[in-house]
Amino acid sequence: MTTMQFSQRVMTAAAPKHVGKEIFLAGWVDVRRDHGKLIFFDLRDRSGKVQLVVASDDEALHKKAETLRPEWVVGVLGVVVERPEKMKNTESPTGSIEVQVRDIQVYAESETPPFNLSGDGYDIGEEHRMEFRYLDLRRPRMLRNMELRNRVELMMRTFFADRGFLEIETPVLSKSTPEGARDYLVPSRLYHGKFYALPQSPQQYKQLLMVAGVEKYFQIVRCFRDEDTRGDRQPEFTQLDVEMSFVTQDNILELIEELYVNIVEKLTPEKRISERPFPRMTYKEVMEKYGTDKPDMRKDKNDPNELAFLFVVDFPMFEWKESEKRWDAVHHPFTKISDHDSAAKNDAEFIKEIAQDPSALVAEQYDFVLNGYEIGGGSIREHRPEVLKAVFEIMGNAQEAVEEKFGHLLRAFRYGVPPHGGIAPGVDRFVMLLAGEPNIREVIAFPKTGDGRDLMMNAPSEANETQLAELGLQLRKD
Ligand code: AMO
Repeated sequence: MTTMQFSQRVMTAAAPKHVGKEIFLAGWVDVRRDHGKLIFFDLRDRSGKVQLVVASDDEALHKKAETLRPEWVVGVLGVVVERPEKMKNTESPTGSIEVQVRDIQVYAESETPPFNLSGDGYDIGEEHRMEFRYLDLRRPRMLRNMELRNRVELMMRTFFADRGFLEIETPVLSKSTPEGARDYLVPSRLYHGKFYALPQSPQQYKQLLMVAGVEKYFQIVRCFRDEDTRGDRQPEFTQLDVEMSFVTQDNILELIEELYVNIVEKLTPEKRISERPFPRMTYKEVMEKYGTDKPDMRKDKNDPNELAFLFVVDFPMFEWKESEKRWDAVHHPFTKISDHDSAAKNDAEFIKEIAQDPSALVAEQYDFVLNGYEIGGGSIREHRPEVLKAVFEIMGNAQEAVEEKFGHLLRAFRYGVPPHGGIAPGVDRFVMLLAGEPNIREVIAFPKTGDGRDLMMNAPSEANETQLAELGLQLRKD
């Protein structure tokens, strides 16, 4: 047998289509069962697995098969045969056939894996799974999750491309943007003492793209937030980031609803959406009724196939931060304050009015909730530079600080900014709920552990003296 046969390889899931024919398969040895003269083993590839049988009449082949161990990588030439009726396994998609082996080639042996790869893996310690993530990902459940995630992202891309949106990449080495979490900082080699910040979201870039005339933007993008990790929170995670010019809140929510209904109907038809159109409740209503801004609206909480979407609208603009004795934006400062009779007021009048009682202001802001998880958030933005400046000042920024932190945005807004708004659903949380997984680590290929480490790569790790010197950094001894 030669590697030439790779081009004729048949995936195990397709083997039942080749009854009576000789095929070439390649993959990993799954479980092996010796029945004296006959050796049975399962061959696993990304599509699934199939049962192979080695008879005893070919002594050399039989001896070779005896040496095979789980997770060895092999190529197999064999004939597909229908199993006798009573030997058919209806649980397995390839259970109606087996492959009678003619030849085996071993490509790679494997040490005994540190844990069992055949089960769902929930009972294995997380540290172990993360250290050997490449093995953990071999389990069919994890590969299915990766496939589902890929399909969700592909559908998102096609959906927006079909509607004239541009996917535009924005920088990862950037500047702090106030999303409410701590930034990851990257020291600059060329400018000692200065730091890039990894984006908590592309918020300001997408708004600047509206100034640039892009009109319809989206990006499936990595965001970074240095906050404590939880089941639904990772230091780096993925957003479906969206921004549009000349839109209303209704336009955005309807578009998102259409996308999510499409995805659920196509990819997980077994799931049932509780209510359509997705219900909308104001922040005040949900807080009064459920005491939380992300209520789980499922009618039957034991039903794993129920999806209860909800839009929460009309959030308050500001909340009082007692620890810092200042007003803070509930979402982010770029949000537009609802202002039903704005036509009658000029900027100066409006600014005077909002400064009087920040607690009373409602924002054109919305959250997207699914089964008790916040799966997205967004708003119509404040595009009037003077009003935006006033918002920063209400939040306790001195005039110079506003210039230093947001001068670039305010300046851009003085060159003809279209009214605009957007939303950013979190991809990880949605895929987690579609896959029926208990946390987002199960739908991320290489997540961080609960305490923020990558145990496989051993990150974070120390920098050496030369690297630190180049960056002009010195570690404090304490
Ligand atoms: P927000 O901060 O609400 O909004 O984030 C949007 C969505 O991203 C997801 N998310 C996370 N997922 C996993 N791990 C995390 N640490 C994490 N943090 C957030 C959530 C959340 O709803 N720029 C604005 C959006 C906008 O206004 O357009 C933003 O980032 O599902």
